[in-house]
Amino acid sequence: MASDTYLLGTDPIELERLRLQHQLWLPEARLAWQRAGLTPGERVLDLGAGPGFVALELAQDVGPAGRVLGLELSAAYVDAARTAAKGLGQLELRQHDLCRDPFPQESFDLVWCRWVLMFLRELDPLLDRLAAQLQPGARLVIHEYIHWSSFGLHPDAEGVASFGRAAHASFLAAGGDPDVNRRLPSLLTQRGFRIDELRPLTVVGRLGDGVARWLERFVTTYGPELIRQGLWSDGEAGRARAEMAAARQDRGAFWVGPTVMEIRATR
Ligand SMILES: C[S@@+](CC[C@H](N)C(=O)[O-])C[C@H]1O[C@@H](n2cnc3c(N)ncnc32)[C@H](O)[C@@H]1O
Repeated sequence: MASDTYLLGTDPIELERLRLQHQLWLPEARLAWQRAGLTPGERVLDLGAGPGFVALELAQDVGPAGRVLGLELSAAYVDAARTAAKGLGQLELRQHDLCRDPFPQESFDLVWCRWVLMFLRELDPLLDRLAAQLQPGARLVIHEYIHWSSFGLHPDAEGVASFGRAAHASFLAAGGDPDVNRRLPSLLTQRGFRIDELRPLTVVGRLGDGVARWLERFVTTYGPELIRQGLWSDGEAGRARAEMAAARQDRGAFWVGPTVMEIRATR
């Protein structure tokens, strides 16, 4: 894998999956920013901004007197975000490797991070830089998974369950940690952050609704890569397809998403 790409790829299909995921989770992100007291005029850092969906929302919220800096590994995503950001002078997207590059030498009131730390091989360098750079009172808001294995289609969808296990194994094999949020509160308090709140966020989907489409789409887009890596099989994929088709018609079937945890912390 090239050093400027991430595990799930940056092709248009993955970009659209991220858009769907973002639309589904935006209300929870907005509630998190409200709980963290985000106000117009503030300076926000978006760690691992992807194609900039959240950074754009944040830039509108802080307004022209504020600033949003999105840091993102993938050049393709930085380009997509810059195109979408045209006309918003308060928004800057920068190609940046959170594991290696020096931290931006400027002040931020709030740092936002969603589904990024789970992909990092090392957390310590980034957390050390955050602790050193942020001023006392700066807030940190994180949405990462705490229990990836709660992903599933019920009842009895063994093909989908085998996909969940294979995806989990692929995250670990790439050096990430799908349940990274189990470790973060402790790593943050060790660096002088105060934990303000830990909040579990779970989603359930049925009958082809938004959650069901989001989780189905993940099986469909990431499945071929798992087969290529030898972590999943054509037979299991066929079984999962049949289970998902049946669930679209079955009023009793339901999906459960991997459990996210929100961390709100203050430097
Ligand atoms: C699942 S996407 C989430 C994107 C965005 N945070 C969102 O919520 O829509 C993960 C993002 O993390 C980025 N990423 C992974 N490793 C990174 C690193 N070392 N430095 C910067 N970004 C990274 C990927 O390129 C990808 O855009």
